[in-house]
Amino acid sequence: ANTTAGQLRSPICCILGHVDTGKTKLLDKIRHTDVQGGEAGGITQQIGATFFPIASIQEQTRKLRRAEEKVKYEIPGLLIIDTPGHESFTNLRSRGSSLCNMAILVVDLMHGIEAQTEESMRLLAMRHTPFVIALNKIDRIYGWKPSPWAPFSETYAKQTDEVKTLFRAKYQEVVTSFAEKGYNVCIHTENKDTNTFISMVPTSAITGEGIPDLLMYLIAMTQRTLRDDISLINELTATVLEVKVIQGLGTTVDVVLSNGILREGDTIVVCGLNGPITTQIRALLTPQPCRELRVKSQYTQHREILAAMGVKISAQGLENAVAGSPLHVAYEPEEVEFLQELVSQD
Ligand code: GTP
Ligand code: MG
Ligand code: NA
Repeated sequence: ANTTAGQLRSPICCILGHVDTGKTKLLDKIRHTDVQGGEAGGITQQIGATFFPIASIQEQTRKLRRAEEKVKYEIPGLLIIDTPGHESFTNLRSRGSSLCNMAILVVDLMHGIEAQTEESMRLLAMRHTPFVIALNKIDRIYGWKPSPWAPFSETYAKQTDEVKTLFRAKYQEVVTSFAEKGYNVCIHTENKDTNTFISMVPTSAITGEGIPDLLMYLIAMTQRTLRDDISLINELTATVLEVKVIQGLGTTVDVVLSNGILREGDTIVVCGLNGPITTQIRALLTPQPCRELRVKSQYTQHREILAAMGVKISAQGLENAVAGSPLHVAYEPEEVEFLQELVSQD
């Protein structure tokens, strides 16, 4: 009943890649935050979620918006899921990739393909998830002269011939190693056939170079190839990421709302350690826009929330909720029993 013809919901994009390739740092740059600096050992150990309203993305792609590149922005925003790259978190990478409509695979330009790069590629291939490669840390090329926040072609044009040669050599190594794995990749500015070649956007999470290109590419890719996936529909899809005690709120669950609408007061059914949990949503909260859900912050309370969004739910009895399990809403009292049986089977 809430479906509006032609209207698109916010897509979900997952960031995957080997440990320390710069996944969280790229998000920090886009958010103007320092989440990575607050992580123990600089290692991500949880799935994160950040909602970017379309206006905040437009702000960062403005430099690319020459007349010939005008892409109409139709989506309301973008939910980006951060994942750990450390080898011990395969389950979280798998969960993250199962939640997304598309992905950014981050590769360190200096290291090329690594173990969890390959693992991530397998996860994406398994679910036929389209992705773009961020070839990160270009500022580490010896002699690189940074132009903060510049589109890639602009900063590349300003480099000396020596630097250009060094970049091209590293770039070519990466192209070759992808080819050995059966993937055709090429730099995004030269990709004339996106059905055959996966685009690779050179970036720096330190200087912001290439980030306008990366964001622009995500928007264009979504609107071009994922329209059916992100046409607003009613059916609720939501997944519990974490169970957390927050002072003043009690036990809460962090949830990715992938589809549909959640409302304050909804009766929810989730999988619990000792059987199904049935409870009412007491508070429906989000962090501020462009802020990480997994970092404690000032929350905004909502009467209802539309997908896609990272949401914190406060409700009684959530102590034993199981991370990774789906969250259901019982719209009628008669549905409760069926949903309890459903989550018992997970
Ligand atoms: P995990 O989540 O633990 O897998 O790591 P990650 O992929 O999120 O990488 P993270 O953001 O933690 O960055 C790892 C290190 O690389 C940090 O020391 C960053 O400062 C550094 N780094 C990230 N991106 C860049 C970049 O573009 N250039 C340079 N020079 N350093 C970077
Ligand atoms: Mg990280
Ligand atoms: Na890290």
